[in-house]
Amino acid sequence: MKHNIQVARILAAATVLGLGLLIAAQATASTVSADAIAERLKPSGELCLQGMDCGGVAAPVVAGPKSAEEVYNGLCTSCHDTGAAGAPKRGDAAAWAPRIAQGMATLYDHSLNGIRGMPAKGGNPSLSDDEVKSAVDYIVEASR
Ligand code: HEC
Repeated sequence: MKHNIQVARILAAATVLGLGLLIAAQATASTVSADAIAERLKPSGELCLQGMDCGGVAAPVVAGPKSAEEVYNGLCTSCHDTGAAGAPKRGDAAAWAPRIAQGMATLYDHSLNGIRGMPAKGGNPSLSDDEVKSAVDYIVEASR
């Protein structure tokens, strides 16, 4: 009988010790994996804001709408300053008078959608409608 109690005590002690080890081991494991997760998250967790120098590559600055002059000088000029493809030259009032007489709505429409040698949006579909229209205004103002 006495011997059995002794065995039971040893077993109980061993169980407590075993549980303790198990808990300790789990605590260690979860600490490690938390660190590992933090490490893995790091690259995507680091924010690179607009204008910041992020590892040598500047975050792209989202461009606002282009001014009429920027649109014209960046694209329309290639035909409307040179007369290429039979384009009416900017400032040529005689060439523009019959076109202006069609009304601005028609000029906008032809610039946005194209007409004969005039490509839709001058050939740059990434321009907004407003950017193209402002460039039309810019040409017309100089061609009356
Ligand atoms: C590839 C050459 C080319 C480019 C680039 C170009 N145009 Fe033209 N554009 C033309 C030609 C050619 C015409 C004459 C078309 C016709 O009436 O036969 C024309 C005509 C026009 C007209 C008159 C349309 C009408 O109804 O009479 C407007 C307005 C115009 N262009 C605006 C622009 C604007 C704004 C841009 C820049 C966003 C631009 N164009 C870029 C070739 C070009």
